[in-house]
Amino acid sequence: MSTLITNIAEVTTNVPTRDDRTGTLTDAAVLIDGERIAWVGPAADAPAADEVVDAAGRAVIPGFVDSHSHLVFGGDRAAEFEARMAGQKYAAGGIRSTVAATRASTDDELRTRLRGFLDEMLAQGTTTVEIKSGYGLSVADEERLVRLAAEVTPEVTFLGAHVVPAEYADRPDEYVDLVTGPMLDACAPHAKWIDVFCETGAFTVAQSRRVLEAGIARGLAPRVHASQLGPGEGVRLAVELGAASIDHGTYLADADIDALAGSDTVLTLLPGVEFSTRQPYPNARRLIDAGVTVALACDTNPGSSFTSSMPFCIAVAVRDMGMTPAEAVWAATAGGAKALRRDDVGVIAPGARADLVLLKAPTRIHLAYRPGVPLVDTVWKDGREIR
Ligand code: NIG
Ligand code: FE
Repeated sequence: MSTLITNIAEVTTNVPTRDDRTGTLTDAAVLIDGERIAWVGPAADAPAADEVVDAAGRAVIPGFVDSHSHLVFGGDRAAEFEARMAGQKYAAGGIRSTVAATRASTDDELRTRLRGFLDEMLAQGTTTVEIKSGYGLSVADEERLVRLAAEVTPEVTFLGAHVVPAEYADRPDEYVDLVTGPMLDACAPHAKWIDVFCETGAFTVAQSRRVLEAGIARGLAPRVHASQLGPGEGVRLAVELGAASIDHGTYLADADIDALAGSDTVLTLLPGVEFSTRQPYPNARRLIDAGVTVALACDTNPGSSFTSSMPFCIAVAVRDMGMTPAEAVWAATAGGAKALRRDDVGVIAPGARADLVLLKAPTRIHLAYRPGVPLVDTVWKDGREIR
């Protein structure tokens, strides 16, 4: 079954040309064949297809690649958010209350919740999502979370080292022994990535190194939460270990920027976090100009960022982080794909997965220009149309 989407005013292909990383085409068409993209080019040259969709002068972008989320959890922390908006500071300790609610939830409760978030994301144009564990923090509960995540995405991250759970509060190194031993044994078969929250109040640099190295030894690839609450050495550790991404980067030192710019490690910015914790926005303009590869993700979680909307994150990144709309859309698609070391998503090119979004707008600029407006018309995921 083939589908031709034609009469597209603007296609963001993300196939770079000499002077345009977004590979933008105008008056274009895209041919989907089965689960893959078969052809992209000028509408006037489009091949025949079984079915034709008239884009009517609107824009098409790759499906969003949301490379950072925590979707398997119980409860929420609305009261904590309310208190924060009244002046309370965000602290990583709130994670423990979600751990309690998650442990008290059944698999089916977690699964229903998880699928609800995925539907919500798909309706907003997200076709690839990475999901982390980290609200179980026991061998059995972390195993549950990665197993449930693996039911819905291949991009599963074991984050047993999210915080030290209350029962290990006075013996954090013993908790790291658990994470790098029996917990890793139970979780590695379901996961692709190993992650650690390297931050004051979570794990030290030495503990983070132990966690990442143990994961790497088990065949998992590293990614790191760092420099969210203050400056630290987590970014440089991530670069040293060849992490695919360091995420947050709210407080970066010049040495972090230099290390990132000379590396293959993506910096994944999470605008929803600064938005809902009232922390300062990182200066994406400066980072991009320094040569850092920047991705955007939602970090959907009940504590620091409870949005699942990539369009919202794009709007904030443009408004408050100094990104151009083209850079923000690239970061939310191709950037996310790079952060997951994927080349089959985040791009509209022959052979790539047919994950596309038709916008209710003539250009991607509207994603930032019309914040809060549902601009997603039609989503194709693996070539299947979802309206
Ligand atoms: O990515 N940084 C650590 N973890 C989450 C926050 C989790 C929470 O507050 O529940 C994050 O922001
Ligand atoms: Fe996170």
